[in-house]
Order: sequence, then structure tokens, then C-alpha cells
Amino acid sequence: MFSITVLVSGGGTNLQAIIDSIEGGELKDAGVSIKKVISNKEGAFALERAKKAGVEACVVSPKAYPDRPSFEKALKDEIDKSAPDLIVLAGFLVVIPEAIVRAYPKKIINIHPSLIPSFCGKGFYGLKVHEAALSRGVKVTGATVHFVDEGTDTGPIILQKAVNVEEGDTPEILQQRVMKEAEHIILPHAIALLATNKA
Ligand code: GRF
Repeated sequence: MFSITVLVSGGGTNLQAIIDSIEGGELKDAGVSIKKVISNKEGAFALERAKKAGVEACVVSPKAYPDRPSFEKALKDEIDKSAPDLIVLAGFLVVIPEAIVRAYPKKIINIHPSLIPSFCGKGFYGLKVHEAALSRGVKVTGATVHFVDEGTDTGPIILQKAVNVEEGDTPEILQQRVMKEAEHIILPHAIALLATNKA
């Protein structure tokens, strides 16, 4: 078995793509299982998706700790307890503390909703990425899965998938297309490649 711990903050559509692939797709064939889902946000819909799939989930919210170092220690403790082969950031909006990056070299991956190095780095997350792509007027955008290093969206790229920008796209419409046609395909595929040592 190849075990993953998935970190989430929001709707969890990327988590759902992983769950679906484990239930009957590439990740099932690759022998992948989810050890734990960790959210930094109480009430994140991703937690509902984990519960429905019978996956252990917990919340480590910065609001529950007196300061940043104690929150970061609690987050690392939860990850360490799950002892995963791979940590997957699936729409996780917290910058991963250096102590975690150092403890898990080449064992943390992230999905970013653009073709890195475009529209990435500090301040580029969620809809903001698609707003920037539309205001720049790019005709093609997409998504990237990369290893997480000390920077923001700067680690080695594993997979990318391009998506056309259509006439009249709003940030919301473009985000949905990038999620459906790119993110939800390349994130499970990247996990399968790592689980079978093919990345
Ligand atoms: C979306 O903006 C997605 O592009 C990015 O994180 C956000 C939430 O994704 N990866 P999810 O639905 O919570 O997986």
C-alpha cells in the first residue's frame, strides 16, 4: 500500500478526485490509500467529502493556537502521526512550515491552478490566479503539480496540463474548466506515478 495524507482548506474537489480514483481508477490500481485528511478550516466542505468516504479527518486551525509556532507544531504532529508515504496539498491555503518541508523532502506535492511559472507565487491562489490569467489575456492556461520546497510554487514540476481560455470566460467559469479538465486529472495521475516510482 502507498499511503497519503491530504491537506485541504476548501471545497475539496481535488480531494474528491483522489477519493474517486482510489474507489475505482488509477489510484486503486496503484494501491494508494488515504491515511488522513487534515483541514486548517473548521467546516470546510472537503471534511464532508472525507466523512462520506469513511476517511479519517481532523482540523488543525490556526485560530485554536496562541501563536503561529504552536499551530505549525500541531500541524506537523498530525502529519507525523499519520506517517504517510506522501503529503498531498489539495487546495491547501497555508504556507507549509519549513520544519515540515525539511522533514519530508520530495514527499510533499501541490496542485496549482496555472501553468507555472505563470501566475504563481505569493498572492496567487484560488480565483486570483484566473483573474490574473484573464486580465493578461492568455489564450491557454492550465494546472501544475509540483514538489513543495521552501518557496511558494517553486518546487520541481511533476505534471502540467493545458486548458484553453474561451471567449467570455469569467474567473469562475475558467476555474471550473481548469479544475475539471486539468487539476482533477493530473493530481491523481501524479500520485499514481509517485506510488509506482514512475515520476
Ligand atoms: C481551487 O482554486 C483549485 O484551483 C486550487 O485550490 C482551490 C480549491 O480546490 N487547487 P478544492 O476544490 O478545495 O480542491
